[in-house]
Amino acid sequence: MKPSTVLLSLPLVASVEASPFGQRNAQPNFRWTDLPPVGNGAPIQEHGTTATDTHIYLLGGISPNANASIPAIQSRDTFEAYSLEDGTWEKLPPIPEAFTHINAAAIDGKVYVLGGLTGDGADRVWRSTRDSFVYDIASHVWSDLPPMPEGQGRGSAAIGISGDIIYLAGGLDRLEIGGEQLTLDIVTAYDTKKGTWTTLPSLPAPRDHVGGAIIGNKFWVVGGRDHGQVNVRNTTWSLDLKAPEKGWKAHAEMPTARGGLAFGVTGDYIATFGGEGNPDPASNGVFNETEVYSIKEDKWFKQPAMPHPRHGTAAASVNGRIYIPGGGIVLGSGPVDTFDTFELSP
Ligand SMILES: *[C@@H]1O[C@H](CO)[C@@H](O)[C@H](O)[C@H]1NC(C)=O
Ligand SMILES: *[C@@H]1O[C@H](CO)[C@@H](O)[C@H](O)[C@H]1NC(C)=O
Ligand SMILES: *[C@@H]1O[C@H](CO)[C@@H](O)[C@H](O)[C@H]1NC(C)=O
Repeated sequence: MKPSTVLLSLPLVASVEASPFGQRNAQPNFRWTDLPPVGNGAPIQEHGTTATDTHIYLLGGISPNANASIPAIQSRDTFEAYSLEDGTWEKLPPIPEAFTHINAAAIDGKVYVLGGLTGDGADRVWRSTRDSFVYDIASHVWSDLPPMPEGQGRGSAAIGISGDIIYLAGGLDRLEIGGEQLTLDIVTAYDTKKGTWTTLPSLPAPRDHVGGAIIGNKFWVVGGRDHGQVNVRNTTWSLDLKAPEKGWKAHAEMPTARGGLAFGVTGDYIATFGGEGNPDPASNGVFNETEVYSIKEDKWFKQPAMPHPRHGTAAASVNGRIYIPGGGIVLGSGPVDTFDTFELSP
């Protein structure tokens, strides 16, 4: 099946008025494309997303509840892949455990699950797990990994990949639906060749449901929230992985503070999408913002709203395109099967 391509030509943001978010003459141009629904039509939210050059992988998460009066909080063990070449979704062997808010990464023919949150919905609590697994793409086999260090289990961390190493910043230790949320500031790295965990300088403040990516030698950690959906943050931080002892550096802040955002890289831009905790009563608690950060200029640019606003998804970037599968469309829930991509327009 060929992806149905819907090119939305986005108007340029008016660049005449002076703006604190760096309007300039050469406003970057981006475009959205709709892709086939995730999982052959099964809505999903709070999953992990990662990619190789040829596939987008979708791990765990939550599904809509058949009984709409019960919030969807049951964890999933599902694992599926979208072929960039064929434009089709395929079911893969399930993850050894059912997780939500998975920290996922793909390196060198393998897909990694480094902790996450678990919960069957019975007591309305998601708890962190240190359990970690690796999937071999060629042999279709899952294996156990050394667990995350004691006290460092978490889901919903910012994730960066550099060489053989997966970096995790912040994350969520525990989430009581409608109650306490324990946000962390710890930063750790897993060496996929050595099978070892190391600790790096902590974030300046706790963050979960936060964006992360490594570009060059820098680990970027953007937005997120601190102890609850509505405590959204606008920070842009980076850590120089060549000199981590220098600690985290603050950069220009996002125009709109957001947690539960999707996050990716296209060209020299970091792009952020949607999120959760919007106080505007017209919004269902979901942000529709698309905001991009020029790494070269240390400037944010507001872009037109997402065509399909959502939160609780994770994006993957492949060859300059950012893929955004699933997500939720109301505060705390509302899984959908939407799948779209965002990229710098040539
Ligand atoms: C849905 O769940 C509610 C709360 O547990 C229960 O009262 C109701 O009977 C359920 N409805 C169905 C159709 O199962
Ligand atoms: C970011 O958030 C802080 C705290 O709410 C606020 O003081 C600051 O003005 C915000 N920055 C921008 C660019 O809106
Ligand atoms: C974006 O969301 C706001 C509510 O927060 C709404 O007022 C606005 O119309 C939305 N924009 C678009 C283009 O849907």
